[in-house]
Amino acid sequence: MANLEADVLGICPQDYHLPNDIVDHLLCHFSDGPLLSDVAAKAIVIAENPTSSVRDITLVIESDPSLAMRILRIANSVLYSPATPILSLENAIARIGFRECTSIIYASCIARMLEKSTLADEWTRTVLRDHAFSTAILSRHLNELLSLGYQGEDFTCGLLHDLGRILIASYSPSIFQAGDDLTFGDESMQVTHEDRLWGSNHCEVGAVFVARSGLPAAAVDVIRHHHAPAEEPHPPLVTLVAAADHAANSLVCRTYTGTYDPSTNEYFSELISHRSPAERATLLEQFIELIGQTNDATSQMIAAFCS
Ligand SMILES: [Fe+2]
Ligand SMILES: [Fe+2]
Repeated sequence: MANLEADVLGICPQDYHLPNDIVDHLLCHFSDGPLLSDVAAKAIVIAENPTSSVRDITLVIESDPSLAMRILRIANSVLYSPATPILSLENAIARIGFRECTSIIYASCIARMLEKSTLADEWTRTVLRDHAFSTAILSRHLNELLSLGYQGEDFTCGLLHDLGRILIASYSPSIFQAGDDLTFGDESMQVTHEDRLWGSNHCEVGAVFVARSGLPAAAVDVIRHHHAPAEEPHPPLVTLVAAADHAANSLVCRTYTGTYDPSTNEYFSELISHRSPAERATLLEQFIELIGQTNDATSQMIAAFCS
């Protein structure tokens, strides 16, 4: 089948196979380092330690002026709407809290990776960025709506779930475009299509890359299984991000026609399966409202992170 598709495209099939050890190629390609800079990785370890102080994390982050500026700008943005301008990094971190600080660090790393990427096509860059942020915001909304109790992993894993797409598109726009038209239609078929054409898929590439970058196993699980969370037992975080991803697919380029039907979201249905029929009906209505709100929140977040 791969040969047939390549023939239709008029290109030698070997041109459309990912390199055997694609992660090695990607690590070389992103030679500035893996996903997180040293400063970002250290800051996250400190932020996740309950005994750390605001001063501890400030000391690390201020050694990366670009990250420090971004946190300061976000703390002063409409996302947090401080009553008076926050002028110091220490005050900014105290204002937003450690959990948000970790989310901002991951989001900054993704934004920086997209800025530095060699994606020639601005539309592809925009679609991938918007989808990452929309899925992250919806993951956070659903975590709160369903009281799942995640403390920021929801946002981070939503943000990272399609990292493999960003990596492959940056590595080779032509390989990427041959395998992924970014229509966000039947995503399970998308993975099958990638396997046939590339001999791998964006879930596997993203998972291996993130594992090599030293991120927690929970993030690797989400990235690897977000299109098939039911194939084997996984923590609810995988199903949560899959549910958010399903809904975010209806928000491509931040246009939402209001036609999304959450009852088609099998992952959301699984998350609420133990609730009473009345509760499920209410949650489905609340889910629809959240999707409508996500567009505005995505625009605000992108303005804060990517300007
Ligand atoms: Fe995906
Ligand atoms: Fe996705």
